[in-house]
Amino acid sequence: MILYFSATGNTEFIARELARHLDDECVNLLERVKKNDHAPLHSEKPFIVCAPVYVCEMPRFMSKYLKEQSFSGSKDVYCIFTSGGYCGISGVLAKRIFKKKGMTYHGHAEFKMPRNYVANNSYPMLAREEIETRILTSRDQAKAVAEDIKAGRKLTARHVFLWESIVTIPFNPVWCKYKLTADAFYTTEACIGCGKCARLCPLNNISLVDKAPVWGDACTHCMACIGNCPTEAIEYGTITQEKEPYNFGKYKYIVKEQ
Ligand SMILES: Cc1cc2nc3c(=O)[nH]c(=O)nc-3n(C[C@H](O)[C@H](O)[C@H](O)COP(=O)(O)O)c2cc1C
Ligand code: SF4
Ligand code: SF4
Repeated sequence: MILYFSATGNTEFIARELARHLDDECVNLLERVKKNDHAPLHSEKPFIVCAPVYVCEMPRFMSKYLKEQSFSGSKDVYCIFTSGGYCGISGVLAKRIFKKKGMTYHGHAEFKMPRNYVANNSYPMLAREEIETRILTSRDQAKAVAEDIKAGRKLTARHVFLWESIVTIPFNPVWCKYKLTADAFYTTEACIGCGKCARLCPLNNISLVDKAPVWGDACTHCMACIGNCPTEAIEYGTITQEKEPYNFGKYKYIVKEQ
């Protein structure tokens, strides 16, 4: 069983590619996360957990969800991380979560995908050509990873140095608390009040008041709202005004045509 969360489509693309190659089922965790639904998950095939990387680790709401979730059937688990190029300590933390559950962690794979963090100037958005190259490369990588899983091989990724955990573990909670805030989100007159942003927010942080989105204070900066708005009506302060928000759907022609 392939489980995934994806704010802007990269992770969903990899999850679906794996499901196709492995002839396995694919479960989007969004609704379960939104409703804090922990109905047991059962699979006779290995569990394959796919997540984006936020500030060098799996999204914190997702690791919390997985810690509280029960899994039955197979004891085998693999993880898949998609990032803009640096997955940090995602694998180290995931291994801990599943070992504590008595499951056998068979390693993780890292996919270098297009960056989606439009509300942060430290991660410049990529040019179309680079985005397309990354998507095509990741599609080939998904096929190879599926073959490893099919053959029961452990997945191997970059060695994580101890200093990376020493820096990330205390730094992240502070960074997330003070930097990942929704204060600067607003909508322009292009908003049509469709409510898609509210439906896609994994933390239920957006409510519609008279058809206008209002952001609360439980944001993880996943970019699902700004990245998927059909009229590109969402801005984040001045940071996003000259930039095009990313979502995988804008580029899927490249994998459809081949
Ligand atoms: C809040 C946030 C933090 C991120 N942190 C990292 C990071 O530490 N390293 C990295 O390489 N990419 C980082 N990224 C980029 C995403 O991990 C990457 O674009 C991912 O593939 C998005 O997946 P999705 O489209 O499935 O949501 C970050 C993106 C966001 C929104
Ligand atoms: S998704 Fe965009 S258009 Fe729809 S309600 Fe949200 S901001 Fe408005
Ligand atoms: S409000 Fe924050 S957590 Fe919710 S979709 Fe937007 S960026 Fe993601």
